[in-house]
Amino acid sequence: MVRIPEATVDDIRQNADIVEVISQYLQLRKSGQNHFAHCPFHEDKTPSFSVNERKQLFHCFSCGRGGNVFNFIREIDGLTYPEAIVKTAELVHYPLDQAMVSQVLNQQTTGDSTTGKLYSINKLAKEFYHHVLMYTEIGKPALDYLLARGLTEETLIEFEIGFSPAQRNALYLYLKSQDEHEFETDIYQKSGLFSENKNPEENEFLDRFTKRIIFPIHNERGHAIGFSGRVFEENQNDSFVQAKYLNTPETSLFNKSKILYNFDQAKASIRREKEAVFFEGYMDVIAAWQAGIKNGIASMGTSLTENQVQMVDRFSDHIVLAFDGDDAGKEAIKRSVDYLSQNTHFTIEIISFPAGLDPDDYIQKHGPEEFRNLLEHGRDTHMSFLMDYHRRNVNISNESEQIQYIEAILKELTQVDSLVEREIYFKQLADEFSLSMDTLESQFETVMQEVQNRQLAEYKEERRRTKYQERLPEVSYQNKANYSLLERAERMLLNRLFYHEEAWIYLARQAADFHFRSEDFQLIYILFEAYREKDFDRTDTEGFLDYLQEDDLKQIVAEVFLIELGELTENEIEDYVEVIRNVSPVQENLADKLDELKEAQRSGNKGQQTKLAIEIINLNKKLKNK
Ligand code: GTP
Ligand code: MN
Repeated sequence: MVRIPEATVDDIRQNADIVEVISQYLQLRKSGQNHFAHCPFHEDKTPSFSVNERKQLFHCFSCGRGGNVFNFIREIDGLTYPEAIVKTAELVHYPLDQAMVSQVLNQQTTGDSTTGKLYSINKLAKEFYHHVLMYTEIGKPALDYLLARGLTEETLIEFEIGFSPAQRNALYLYLKSQDEHEFETDIYQKSGLFSENKNPEENEFLDRFTKRIIFPIHNERGHAIGFSGRVFEENQNDSFVQAKYLNTPETSLFNKSKILYNFDQAKASIRREKEAVFFEGYMDVIAAWQAGIKNGIASMGTSLTENQVQMVDRFSDHIVLAFDGDDAGKEAIKRSVDYLSQNTHFTIEIISFPAGLDPDDYIQKHGPEEFRNLLEHGRDTHMSFLMDYHRRNVNISNESEQIQYIEAILKELTQVDSLVEREIYFKQLADEFSLSMDTLESQFETVMQEVQNRQLAEYKEERRRTKYQERLPEVSYQNKANYSLLERAERMLLNRLFYHEEAWIYLARQAADFHFRSEDFQLIYILFEAYREKDFDRTDTEGFLDYLQEDDLKQIVAEVFLIELGELTENEIEDYVEVIRNVSPVQENLADKLDELKEAQRSGNKGQQTKLAIEIINLNKKLKNK
């Protein structure tokens, strides 16, 4: 087992200034001791992500992630620990012995574990298929076919495309011949590369893929984890060949819902371009890549999943959907648009391809330049796509269909945050159907009311599930009524820590990993702990004020000292801890908004209701996207 020597790791860490490294990923702003940014690991409206130059640490006080420079690189680039060290060294131009690096990185995938062996067997299979396509007579017809479709050899090499021979044990024999590997039977079974049934006479495995063009599928780190095999012209009419694409079955490495085709190669451009382009097929991704669009990815022929969206979320907040121009493509866009707009904070644009053409066809027909042009200038906002979508199959001269259409659009508009954008669509509808803006807006409020009621019902249900809101004692702590739930809990807990040993005992026994979410409070907590360890006398809580250096901390402590909480009640500490741990700022904000909404409904303030309802919808989206 080769490791990067501990001394080298330390040396890299010392040479890699965390501020400098993180600056290559985020826009940091200096304020006091710290540098701040929007946290790249979750939806973050206020800059909660801080980097401390002196301590060489980062910390997000909203999501709690934190650590040193390696932890950051690991998380943001989705790397293993050794990979993160190597990547950090590259970022700061620290010279590393390349032979050692490749040894360290290779053994991760060729290790003794089952997982390591599965990586190895997939890698060997990939190399075998690729070799057959590029350099053998058997692969020649498939190679000619791909070249005729406009792919260059360079592209085929880049994507490591391959071909699986007709002979049903070709891969098996090849792997057997790689005697330095000697995989056990169960590795063959678990790899997904072979059919279940063995050849009974020979006691051999039969290859799963035969006579197919092979697209290797890589995980985020660029390791082959499975394959998708496409029929090609030679066997397209073969009655034994059913599916156009055959995938590796689900294995311990290959889970379709967590895979994005080409993500390993695309993620750098996704970050750079601040957007990801989603295609429907592998061929589209590859053709687009060859045409210069490097931030293209595709799912494995399924609808988008939460996992996939989260993968992209680390690199950008904008998704461009570039699906086929046919009806199935439109339905797929609609599904994705609904999913993304209701459950995530992504902004979306849609490229419409002429009916019957997929992106790859389009490139073949019109060339790469026009394709790039379409991608840049042929974008619809998600609302204008939806207007077209609902427009299909509607006979506008029929009055009842017209009304249905308008209502469908108003309903979609409840998902639009921007007042300006909504206004634009109201205008369009008003012009087209000769309606007054007033009529539309009051109809919109009715639709909104329905949405609101649904939201309120959901919220009540949520409240019923999480009772701690009611359990928080309101007690005599009312000096600034507008502290949020979280702020109240942090203040009350800190107060209890000042005066009650029980609070310390509870944290030590039941919540050893506890930390305050506010940076100031966490700092006070740590300092107070240190202060207690000196020569602390519980009657001398005020002595702590002198011990503190910073004025703003003193101010908080002075305020918290003065809170009158009365007797310590049973479960009180536990309740604070639960709130501090579990209530997200978004949830709190949501609770406040829903209270305001109830108030607005009572007083009949329609304008306020609409405004709040939209805010609530957006908060709910954020919550779902956590
Ligand atoms: P070409 O026909 O070679 O241009 O490929 P394509 O990628 O354009 O294929 P198509 O538009 O028919 O399909 C788009 C995507 O859907 C593919 O890339 C696959 O991910 C998936 N897909 C299509 N057909 C099948 C199938 O029969 N089985 C499976 N599992 N997936 C399929
Ligand atoms: Mn195609």
